[in-house]
Amino acid sequence: MQIKIAASILAADPTQLGNEIEKVERAGIDLIHVDVMDGHFVPNLTMGPFIVEGVKKNTSIPLDIHLMIENPEKYIESFTRKTGKDDIITFHIETTDDPLSVINLIKSQGLKAGVAMNPDTDAQTVKKLLKSIDMLLIMTVHPGFAGQSFIKDVCSKLKKLREIAPENLDIEVDGGIKPETISEAASAGANVFAAATSIFAKSDYKEAIKELRQIAQENCNLFVKN
Ligand code: DX5
Ligand code: ZN
Repeated sequence: MQIKIAASILAADPTQLGNEIEKVERAGIDLIHVDVMDGHFVPNLTMGPFIVEGVKKNTSIPLDIHLMIENPEKYIESFTRKTGKDDIITFHIETTDDPLSVINLIKSQGLKAGVAMNPDTDAQTVKKLLKSIDMLLIMTVHPGFAGQSFIKDVCSKLKKLREIAPENLDIEVDGGIKPETISEAASAGANVFAAATSIFAKSDYKEAIKELRQIAQENCNLFVKN
C-alpha cells in the first residue's frame, strides 16, 4: 500500500499560508490536510471554503479536506465548487443519519469521499460504508485542536477495520502523529498519516516528512493480509 503523509495546515503560520504550503510541497508532502471546524461539532473555529479556495489556487497537491461540522450536506457544494477530482472531502459519521447520501453527494460532484470517526465511535458504525468510500479517517485524538497526545487505544479499532476493509482502501489516522507514534499506527493498519505539529513545528519540513514516511514504511508491512 502506498504510504501518504498529509500536512495539516492547522499548525502552519497563518500569516504565511502560501509560503508554508509551497514549503511542504517542495518537501515532498502527498496531501494538504485542511481542518474545517464549525464551533458546534467541535469546540473550535477554523477555516472554510474561502481558505480552501486560496489553498487550492496555491498548490497542485491534492487536498484532504477534513470536515468537522454539523449538517455536512449543507456545505458540501461550497467546497466542491472550489476543488477538483483529485481532492477528497471527509465528513464525520457522527454528524449524519444518512452517510450514504453525503458520500453520493460528494462523488456526484466529481470528488473523492471519505468518512471520519471519533476515537470513541464504534467500528460497527462505518462497517457497511467501507465499500462505498475512498478513504476512512480514524481520529487518534478528540477532534478540535492540534498538538494533542495520540490515543493508543484507538489502534485496536484500526486493526479490526483494516482486516475487514476492501483491499487498498486508504485508512488515515489523524492526531498526535509523530515519529514516536507513527510506527504503532502503521503497524495497526493505517497508510495515510495527517500531521500538523510534527511537521510545522520543525525547522526542516523535508527532514520531518522523510522521517515520518520512513518509520511508517518500516512498520506497515505488518498488516499485509495473509
Ligand atoms: C484535530 C485535527 C488534526 C490536527 C492534527 O481536530 O483534525 O488534523 O490538526 O494536529 P497534530 O498533528 O498536531 O496532532
Ligand atoms: Zn484533521
